Amino acid sequence: MTRKKHTDGPSGAGEPESPREVAPEPKGSEKAWQAALRPRTFDEYIGQRELIDNLKVSVRAAKQNGWPLDHFLFAGPPGLGKTTLAHVIANELGVNLHVSSGPAIDHKGMLASLLTSLGEGDALFIDEIHRLAPVVEENLYPAMEDFRFDLFIGDGPHAKAVTMQLPRFTLLGATTRMGLLSAPLLDRFGFHWQLRYYELPDMCAIVKRSAQLIGVTIDKDGATEIARRARGTPRIANRLLRRVRDFAAVERDGAIDGDIAGSALDRLAVDHAGLDTLDRAYLSVICERFDGGPVGIEAVAASLSEERGTLEEVVEPFLLQVGFIARTPRGRVATAAGYQHMGLAAPTKAPSGGTGSAQGRLF
Ligand code: ADE
Repeated sequence: MTRKKHTDGPSGAGEPESPREVAPEPKGSEKAWQAALRPRTFDEYIGQRELIDNLKVSVRAAKQNGWPLDHFLFAGPPGLGKTTLAHVIANELGVNLHVSSGPAIDHKGMLASLLTSLGEGDALFIDEIHRLAPVVEENLYPAMEDFRFDLFIGDGPHAKAVTMQLPRFTLLGATTRMGLLSAPLLDRFGFHWQLRYYELPDMCAIVKRSAQLIGVTIDKDGATEIARRARGTPRIANRLLRRVRDFAAVERDGAIDGDIAGSALDRLAVDHAGLDTLDRAYLSVICERFDGGPVGIEAVAASLSEERGTLEEVVEPFLLQVGFIARTPRGRVATAAGYQHMGLAAPTKAPSGGTGSAQGRLF
């Protein structure tokens, strides 16, 4: 195995880094923030216990026996930690992680250059893997199965097939749309896992950990308020934490309690169930314009001037999870809980939403 370099990884012996004390204030982008708050070891990782326990076993087996880790696929809505898991796995294995995405690998040559840059045992993370072009996907199969890549040199009748041997590597795939993955691609992963929204205690622990890393004082009520409104999604929790921190710094002494968290989040238009302006606009369109549904996703997208994909990948999974909408063969419907959340009277036909409670299974 090629061992990961010291700059941003574990020691040459492949041991994970020790937990950090305080992360330096990251400059600029949202991505830099997310990276700074990202756990780097299985022990730092909060939540998704079953998955983490399974991964620990596979990583340990690979390390003990010098096997390359099998190809793993993670599915789930954005922000639940698919990229983070890839970093943690590579760190725990002590190998380099190469990061790319389905849309970025837009031709076969790009895939060839990615694969040939891998070192023995390295991990390759492909985000949004459901968006790979078919020709790229087909060329990924022999790479995943036999660590080989078939190239054609020259054109037409004089073209010559050359097979390149690749280093043994681990493909870590991530998708927000498991249903869009082809069966042949799915078959080539040794393991798939659907990440779930995080439960409230895990979300609270993540908020407290992040607050400590960015050097902000937060009490239990403050952490709970942010955690409750972050729709079971660590990335959202970390984003809200930074916004609330701004309010606490400007309007208070910098410390976050339940009061300032609640009032900041109200002003940021994040309601007590974690719904933002787009979520509420979506619900309102179904309840008010389409009389509770059933309504097709295209009609909802057109009414909101939003991309269908954004609604399907970002908005709907959480609203389904908390039982505010339901999917039927004829389209989306608002549930009684959805109406109640919007402060509207539910028509008698509105389904209960399965979970029966406005907060669904999550909180
Ligand atoms: N930050 C974002 N996701 C996290 C997780 N699952 N555990 C700890 N910190 C996190």
